[in-house]
Amino acid sequence: MPTRQAETRRYLVPFTTATTQQLFTDCLVIGAGIAGLRAALEAAQDRTVTLVCKGTFSDSNTWNAQGGIASVLAAADSFDAHIADTMKTGGGIADKAIVERVVKEGPALIRQLADWGTVFDRVDGEIDVTLEGGHSHARVAHSHGDSTGRGIAETLISRVRQTQAINIIENFFTIDLLTNDDGECIGAIGMRPSGSLQIIWAGATILATGGAGRLYRETTNPECATADGLAMAWRAGAMLRDMEFMQFHPTTLYIAGASRALVTETLRGEGAILRDSRREPFMREYDPAGELAPRDVVSRAILDRMLKTGTTHVYLDIRHFDKQHFQRRFPLISELCESFDIDVSKDLIPVRPSAHYMIGGVKTDVDAATNIPRLFAAGEVASTGLHGANRLGSNSLLEGLVFGKIAGQSAVSLINDTVRPQYCRMQVPIPPSDRSRLDAEDVRNSLRALMWRNVGITRNETPLTEAAEIITFWQRYVMDQVFTSSFGWECQNMLTIAGLMAHAANERKESRGVHYRQDHPDRDDKNFTRHIELKRE
Ligand code: FUM
Repeated sequence: MPTRQAETRRYLVPFTTATTQQLFTDCLVIGAGIAGLRAALEAAQDRTVTLVCKGTFSDSNTWNAQGGIASVLAAADSFDAHIADTMKTGGGIADKAIVERVVKEGPALIRQLADWGTVFDRVDGEIDVTLEGGHSHARVAHSHGDSTGRGIAETLISRVRQTQAINIIENFFTIDLLTNDDGECIGAIGMRPSGSLQIIWAGATILATGGAGRLYRETTNPECATADGLAMAWRAGAMLRDMEFMQFHPTTLYIAGASRALVTETLRGEGAILRDSRREPFMREYDPAGELAPRDVVSRAILDRMLKTGTTHVYLDIRHFDKQHFQRRFPLISELCESFDIDVSKDLIPVRPSAHYMIGGVKTDVDAATNIPRLFAAGEVASTGLHGANRLGSNSLLEGLVFGKIAGQSAVSLINDTVRPQYCRMQVPIPPSDRSRLDAEDVRNSLRALMWRNVGITRNETPLTEAAEIITFWQRYVMDQVFTSSFGWECQNMLTIAGLMAHAANERKESRGVHYRQDHPDRDDKNFTRHIELKRE
């Protein structure tokens, strides 16, 4: 793909090893969602680990995950069924070997989480499982009703805090991965909570930095999801794959002034009905599976209905639910609705789709290894091949758990079996920009609006081309700046990844999974049963 000088800067900040604080660790883990935490625990069985995250431990998509974690836990379910559902949803480009591995390793790792203290909701002593769209069996385990991610994260965090071999640095903004002349990843440079630069040299580095939802104006993701890991991997020479596949969640609370909180799909799994502004149910007109059709189908149906009825949202109806059961089963949403004076036994819940999960990412193999020696990736930042073109709900916590463990194991094997590279002297000068000061907040807001408008749920050649051109233009003067705080670096990362997403979405001239092209509405197996891979020249 075409590159411009300003975009190709290898590092975002100037530094020299001679004057920068340095820290040595066997394994560096960047990110503290389910994948990063699980990876750190695994690696720490054998080696010293430094675990850094840009906010606090509660700033992650994992922490906010509601619905649950999918796995074969019920007697009536089977590995074959979970594998078949995942492959079918993946739209012809999911990787069967990866799917089989994740599905088969899931149950034991979930039971291990329970042994470590995660309180999964149970019925008659067995882990309770529920349905989500695309699953042929009830297989979504949940914790504290609709606080599954938090339930799992708290268990892992507490274990990480008790593990002596793990050095934790919260509020550490990783700016760039460091590579040596052989192209190996030898650690990272970032900013400590004190504001000073810090180099962390590592024998192996695991990237687990999460997704990119904040590239869109409408998103379920917390503020931290600004694609930093994807962008730093890109700058270091990693292969990115499937960047056109952003999954939109159909039901995000739509109340002006409120943050776009997720309204979990498990509500539809348990009988919630979507209604349009005339209070008519409409999902059966779009798919025989109705409310339980795959997310991309539901999201597009909602958009179509909004367009036809000239409204900004549709409604989720749970008036027929037993209110006490609802409050027990979905305490988070219950509280959320109450806080906006929505009485769910009488009122409808206003919802609309928003950006939710980045399917694409840093390409990894079955051992979580990337194309950059000594760099591994796991969780949302990675593209393992599990999801193909469309993610089955609640398969992502499962993937983070399984691949977190794999990444930790692979990192330890590498450190044990190879000679660690020499730490090198580095001097990275970047001349200060002579352009006028920039309003990074304005760039970020404009970018998020552009992505929502032009690289959203339904796509077309002209808006995609326009988005790519505008982003390239903005990059010319934003990538030229040397920022001194995370707000500016995030802005540069967002622009870098948005450009790649617009480019990949334009390249895939067909509709598949979550990627829907109005100008190419059919799936084109002849030309596109493949991945779009991008790597810096
Ligand atoms: O609807 C949900 O609870 C979301 C689940 C997921 O994205 O996996």
